[in-house]
Amino acid sequence: MDASSPILLFDTGVGGLTVYDALCRVLPQAPVIFAADYAGLPYGKKTEAEVAARVSGLLGRMSERYRPRLACIACNTASTIALGMVREVLEIPIVGTVPAIKPAALQTQTGTFGLIGTQATIRQRYVDDLERDFAGGKSLLRIAAPDLVDEAEAKLRGKPVDMAVVEEAVQRLRGMEGGEDIDAVVLACTHFPLLREELGALFRSDVALIDGADGIARRIAHLLEGQEFASKGPNRFVVVGDVMAADGLERALAERGFGAPEAF
Ligand code: DGL
Repeated sequence: MDASSPILLFDTGVGGLTVYDALCRVLPQAPVIFAADYAGLPYGKKTEAEVAARVSGLLGRMSERYRPRLACIACNTASTIALGMVREVLEIPIVGTVPAIKPAALQTQTGTFGLIGTQATIRQRYVDDLERDFAGGKSLLRIAAPDLVDEAEAKLRGKPVDMAVVEEAVQRLRGMEGGEDIDAVVLACTHFPLLREELGALFRSDVALIDGADGIARRIAHLLEGQEFASKGPNRFVVVGDVMAADGLERALAERGFGAPEAF
């Protein structure tokens, strides 16, 4: 294994940076290439067939170009749809980001918890299976809140978050039958932990907001245990489509140790 071989993180935009931040805490020395498929954003509004074809095609090409030692699909939508398919076509370890239903089910005291994701994620069989396997006897209320993706993208560009959009999502979840009993919410889109502060201000203070980023970072570190890392420079942020899509992110990227955005 070449010590400069990177870990590839993949999302449609900045959501995957929530996984990147967690990864940097456990493996600060690992070289990382972060790929943002802005040309495909948002996956949440695409069909299963579109997402599966796009993600496996792009990861195949990225894998040839960057020779990563491991790839992480830092996107719940892509992972719940295409994880199996990507694992079949690539030979490196693939880590997915799937909704943190298991820890949330363990944490809820009322037995009622919520899940906020994209339209595509909340309808996936993968999510039904997680609910069946880990939340038996509990009540899981799901909503799609795709507009929060845009708010998270705006926030990382230093723009104000439209709190009316955040409030609409929170009210819709709390307004579901049994919604007032919710004491834990799964942030089932990697963009949403970027709005933790805004969401937290609108839920009751005893409602836990749960995402999987730390668990995913630990999983990656475990799979790479014993491997050597040598960086050849700053971590890379590559954009699928027009690199101008990353305009405004300069500060967020520099703070995280990335070089200037590059085109894929
Ligand atoms: N970050 C993606 C996820 O975790 C969602 C953004 C999109 O719809 O492309 O699902």
